[in-house]
Amino acid sequence: MATTLRWLGHGCWLVNTAGKTLIIDPFLNDSPTAPVKADAVKADFVLVSHGHFDHVADAAAVANRNDATVVSNYEICEWLGKKGVKNTQPMNLGGGIDLPFGRVKLTIAHHSSVLPDGSSGGNPGGFLLTLADGTIYFACDTALFYDMKLIGAAGIDLAVLPIGDRFTMGPDDAVEAVKLLTPRKVVPSHFNTWPPIAQDTAPWVARIKAETKAEPIVVAPGGTITL
Ligand code: NI
Ligand code: MN
Repeated sequence: MATTLRWLGHGCWLVNTAGKTLIIDPFLNDSPTAPVKADAVKADFVLVSHGHFDHVADAAAVANRNDATVVSNYEICEWLGKKGVKNTQPMNLGGGIDLPFGRVKLTIAHHSSVLPDGSSGGNPGGFLLTLADGTIYFACDTALFYDMKLIGAAGIDLAVLPIGDRFTMGPDDAVEAVKLLTPRKVVPSHFNTWPPIAQDTAPWVARIKAETKAEPIVVAPGGTITL
C-alpha cells in the first residue's frame, strides 16, 4: 500500500508506511488545530525533532500508551526515558538507522532545542526517511540553510517544510529551500496554528509553481496526502 501522510496540525504528521504508523512531533492536546487528541493516536514509532513543547508535548503519552519506539536525538531519548518511555532509538546528527519501515537519518536543522523543563534537548534535527516507495524529508523547525542542497542530492519525493516565519523559515525562504532540495512534491507545515505564524499559502503556491519544478500540495489539518 502506498505511503500516506496525514497532517495533524502544526509540525505534527502521521505517516503510514509498510504496515507501520509513525507520528512526527506529537503536539495534539494543546494544539488549537489538531484534529485528534493524543489518546486517539495509534503509532508504532514516535519521531521527535527537537525539545520544544510544541513538538515533544505528547510524545511520552503516545509512546507509552502504544508501547511505541521513540526515535530522536540522544538527549531527548534520555529525557523521555525518565518519563517512562521504554523503547528508544537514540541518534545524533548525520546518523542513520534501519528500522522495520525503512531508513531514518537525522539531519541538521538551524534552530534551538531546550526541553519544557529547561533540560538540554541536544541539537535540533530534521528527518530524512528512505521508504520502499520514496523518500520524505521533514525539515522540521529550521531556518533556511545551504546544506539543504546536500540533503536534496539523495533525491527527495516529498519535502515537508515550515512556512510559518518568526520561529522558522517563512514562505520566501521555503521557496529557496525547494530550489536547493529539488523535491518532486512539497508540503507546507508549522503555520496557522496561532496568529504569530499565520500565513496565506496562495502566494507561496504561486511562487513554487512559477520558480521550481516541485508540485506544491497544501492540506488542511486532518487532511491526507499520498506519497
Ligand atoms: Ni521549535
Ligand atoms: Mn515549533
